[in-house]
Amino acid sequence: SKEFCFIETRTEGPVAFIELNRPEVLNALNRGMVAEILGAMEDFDRAEDVRAIVLSGKGRCFAAGADIDEMAAAESIDMELLNQFTDWDRLAWIKKPIIGAVHGFALGGAFELALCCDLLFSAEDAEFGFPEVLLGVMPGAGGTVRLTKLAGKTKAMEWLFTGKRISAKEAREFGIVNQVFARETLMEETARYARELAKMPPLSVRFIKESVLKAIDASIYEGMQFERKNFSLLFSSEDQKEGMKAFIEKRKAQFKGR
Ligand code: CAA
Repeated sequence: SKEFCFIETRTEGPVAFIELNRPEVLNALNRGMVAEILGAMEDFDRAEDVRAIVLSGKGRCFAAGADIDEMAAAESIDMELLNQFTDWDRLAWIKKPIIGAVHGFALGGAFELALCCDLLFSAEDAEFGFPEVLLGVMPGAGGTVRLTKLAGKTKAMEWLFTGKRISAKEAREFGIVNQVFARETLMEETARYARELAKMPPLSVRFIKESVLKAIDASIYEGMQFERKNFSLLFSSEDQKEGMKAFIEKRKAQFKGR
């Protein structure tokens, strides 16, 4: 596997793990780290044996946001020419399910990264927030868009205007987080969920992910046309034949992802 500086990766059976690994600066996301996350995601996305990707942070927290040192001196033209958020656009094209596991802080760019995950589990100590406003800027990697779509305008404005941190409990209430676990069991519970997800027919999971993401953006009509094509497409898969045959024969299906 590749050598990474800012992340660590491993696989356990069908589950791939990506851990942010700059604990000395609370996993501040520099551009190198974001590129590595994308590189690892794309490799796992293509790896036939991988069925789910878990993203988490090493040390005290998930991550305290984009690396402030790296951007403090930047001018707008530097930012424009860097075009650094194209990596984030690529993240949206990962086809396999991504599960975020957040403990401690998930601030700024790290909250945006968490919002890119398909499912989000958190520890009781998790704190989400967009403190960009306190630095005289604002989110730039989808924060205002994804938070608003998820939690609605009222809460999004409230949180974004002040940088106020959102507790795990509140994040759960507003549908940002799927489930909250004790700090000690977060990774174990996340891995358990990922292993269960890995047993599902991969093509179904893939097209469900695509269709749900499409639904966020599209009109009902357009979303439903997209859904219908994916539904039809699954009828060319071996797993559809196997799944329905197994049901009729009253046995457990063996899915292959083809
Ligand atoms: N960038 C660079 N370094 C960071 C960092 C960041 N986002 N967050 C923390 N660090 C560093 C600190 O500078 C410190 O380094 P030193 O030991 O060398 O001083 C180390 O990590 C530990 O942090 P603290 O001593 O500050 O730890 P704390 O427990 O006292 O406070 C915290 C924790 C409240 C999260 C605080 O570190 C903090 O406010 N961090 C910045 C949070 C932030 O503003 N994030 C948004 C960044 S902007 C962004 O993300 C833009 C975007 O959308 C792309």
